Amino acid sequence: MARFTLLHLSLLAGAGLVSAASPLKDCLEPAISKVAFEGDILYQATAVKRYNLDIDLTPAAVTYPESAAEVAEVVRCAAQSGLHVQAISGGHSYGNYGLGGSSGAVVVNLENLQQFSMNTTTWQATIGSGTLLGDVTKQLSDNGGRAMSHGTCPQVGSGGHFTIGGLGPTSRQFGAALDHIVEVEVVLANSSIVRASATHNPDIFFAVKGAASGFAIVTEFVVRTEPEPGSAVKYSYSFDFSDTAARADLFAKWQAYVARPGLTRKLASTLTLLEHGIFITGTFFGTQEEYDSLKIGDEFPGANNASAVVFKDWVGLVTSWGEDVALELGGAIPSHFYSKSRAFTAESLLSNDEVHAMFQYLDNVNKGTLLWFAIFDFQGGAINDVPSHETAYAHRDALVWLQSYAINLFGEVSGTTVEFLERLNELTLAGNATDVPYAAYAGYVDPRLGQDGPAAYWGDNLPRLQRIKKEIDPNDVFHNPQSVKVAAA
Ligand SMILES: Cc1cc2nc3c(=O)[nH]c(=O)nc-3n(C[C@H](O)[C@H](O)[C@H](O)COP(=O)(O)OP(=O)(O)OC[C@H]3O[C@@H](n4cnc5c(N)ncnc54)[C@H](O)[C@@H]3O)c2cc1C
Ligand SMILES: *[C@@H]1O[C@H](CO)[C@@H](O)[C@H](O)[C@H]1NC(C)=O
Ligand SMILES: *[C@@H]1O[C@H](CO)[C@@H](O)[C@H](O)[C@H]1NC(C)=O
Ligand SMILES: *[C@@H]1O[C@H](CO)[C@@H](O)[C@H](O)[C@H]1NC(C)=O
Ligand SMILES: *[C@@H]1O[C@H](CO)[C@@H](O)[C@H](O)[C@H]1NC(C)=O
Repeated sequence: MARFTLLHLSLLAGAGLVSAASPLKDCLEPAISKVAFEGDILYQATAVKRYNLDIDLTPAAVTYPESAAEVAEVVRCAAQSGLHVQAISGGHSYGNYGLGGSSGAVVVNLENLQQFSMNTTTWQATIGSGTLLGDVTKQLSDNGGRAMSHGTCPQVGSGGHFTIGGLGPTSRQFGAALDHIVEVEVVLANSSIVRASATHNPDIFFAVKGAASGFAIVTEFVVRTEPEPGSAVKYSYSFDFSDTAARADLFAKWQAYVARPGLTRKLASTLTLLEHGIFITGTFFGTQEEYDSLKIGDEFPGANNASAVVFKDWVGLVTSWGEDVALELGGAIPSHFYSKSRAFTAESLLSNDEVHAMFQYLDNVNKGTLLWFAIFDFQGGAINDVPSHETAYAHRDALVWLQSYAINLFGEVSGTTVEFLERLNELTLAGNATDVPYAAYAGYVDPRLGQDGPAAYWGDNLPRLQRIKKEIDPNDVFHNPQSVKVAAA
C-alpha cells in the first residue's frame, strides 16, 4: 500500500502535478505552521542550501515545524504518503543528506527548535536540535561558563553533529560531542514523541548516538557540560620543504609523536598537507609554561614559521578555530567538492615505507585541482575510553583520522580528482592489510561508497543497528542514501 502510494506520487511529481493537489499537501497544510512545496519561496530557501554543489536534489516538501508536536505531524503525513523524511539542522552534510540526499524526502528544517536552558545544579544543558555550534558555544558560556566538545565550524548544526560523532580539539579530554549526550527527546517513525537515555529506551539512545538519521528526529538534547577550559595555547608550525623525502620524514615524526603512549590529553594536534606546504597546528589546553615545556618546536625542526598564541577566553578561542576553518576549508561556503575519510588505530599507523610511498604519490600524481587538503587529525584520549558497543559511533580505537578533501571552483569535481582521493585513501590502507575493515567517519559522508557506506561508518555496530531499525522504523521512514537500512533477509 505504502509502496503503491510512493510510486503514484513520483509519477505525479514527474508530471509536475504534485503541488496541485496531493495527499501529502492535504495532510501537511492543516497540520503545521509552515510548509512549502516546489515553486514556493520558502521551499527554495531551504532546498538551495546544498552544501555539496555536486549533488542535486528535489525534496518532496520543506517543513518548518515549531515544536516536537509539529515534527511528529510532519512524520505522520510523510509516512502516510509513503515518503522518506530527513531533518536538516546546519545543512553541512557532505552528501546534502539533511535535504535527504537524492531521495526526494520530506525535509524537516529544525531552525525554529533552538530552545536552551541550563540546570545550574547538574550543569546539564537542554539544547534545541536546530542550534548551530557557534550558538551552542555562546549559550553554554553565557549560562555559567560551561563548555562541551564539538568540531570547529560554527555553522555546523548540533542536529547533524551531535548525532554522528562531533570530533573537536577538546575531544581528547571530554569525548566526542555525542559522549556529552545524557538524554534526548525524539520523534519516531510512528510519530510518537519519546525520551531516551541509557536507562530509558536504551536501544533508541544507542542508535541516536552515531546513526540518528536512519532512526528518529532528535528535537532536543540534554548534555553534560564541563567548566570552560582556562588558558590555552594555539600553535601553528608551517613547513615548505620541497624535497619529497624530507616531507615524508616530517610526517613520520608527527605520527610517531602522537602515538606516544601517555601523551597528554591536553594536546590537540592536526597535520595538514596541501599542494605547497605542511602545517602542524593545534591547541594545548594549559599555560604557556606547560606548552613551552613540551618543546614542540624541537620535535618538528625546520619550520619556516611558528606561532603560539595564548587565549584566556574560551569563546575567543572557539571563534578563532572557526576563522581557521573558514580560511582552510571554505568554511560555510557551499562548493563542488569530494571528500573521503579513514581511521588509523595505534596498530594500523603507516610504516615508514608507506609514508614515503604516500609522499611519492602525492608529489607525482595528477590531482586535477590545486585545491586539495589531506588533514590528519589526532584524536584518541577520552573518545577511546568509551566501549565501542556503547553507542552507534563505533570507531573508538581511532587514534588519527584522515580526511582528504578536494574542491573544484569551476564546476563538478573531475574524475581525475575523485581517482586521486580514492587512490590516496587506498595507499593509506595500513600495510594493505585486508583483515583490517575499512573505517570511515559518518560525519564525512562519502556518497561514492554507496551501499558499502554503512559498514564503513558503523563497523561492528551495524548488525545491532539493523535490528533496531527493523523494530522502530521497518518502513524506512527516516532515510538518506546511506542511512542504516533493515538488513536484507
Ligand atoms: C566546514 C565543515 C567543518 C566540519 N568540521 C567538523 C569537525 O571539526 N568535527 C566533526 O566531527 N565534524 C565536522 N564536520 C562534519 C559535520 O559534523 C557533519 O557534516 C554533520 O553531520 C553536519 O551536521 P549539520 O546539522 O550541519 O548537517 P545536516 O545536513 O543538517 O545534517 C546531517 C545529517 O544529520 C541528520 N540530522 C540533522 N539533524 C538531525 C536531528 N535533529 N535528528 C536526527 N538526524 C538529524 C540529517 O538528516 C543528515 O542526515 C564539518 C563539516 C563541514 C562542512
Ligand atoms: C536540575 O536537576 C535536578 C536533578 O535532576 C532536579 O532535581 C532539578 O529540578 C533541576 N532543576 C531545574 C530548574 O530543572
Ligand atoms: C607566521 O604565522 C603567523 C600565524 O599563523 C602569521 O600571522 C604570520 O603572518 C606568519 N608569518 C609569515 C612570515 O608567514
Ligand atoms: C600496497 O599496495 C600498493 C599498490 O597495490 C603497493 O605498491 C605497495 O607496495 C603495497 N604496500 C605494502 C606495504 O604492502
Ligand atoms: C511507536 O514505536 C515505538 C518504538 O517501536 C513503540 O515502543 C511504541 O509503542 C509505538 N507507539 C505507538 C502509539 O504505536
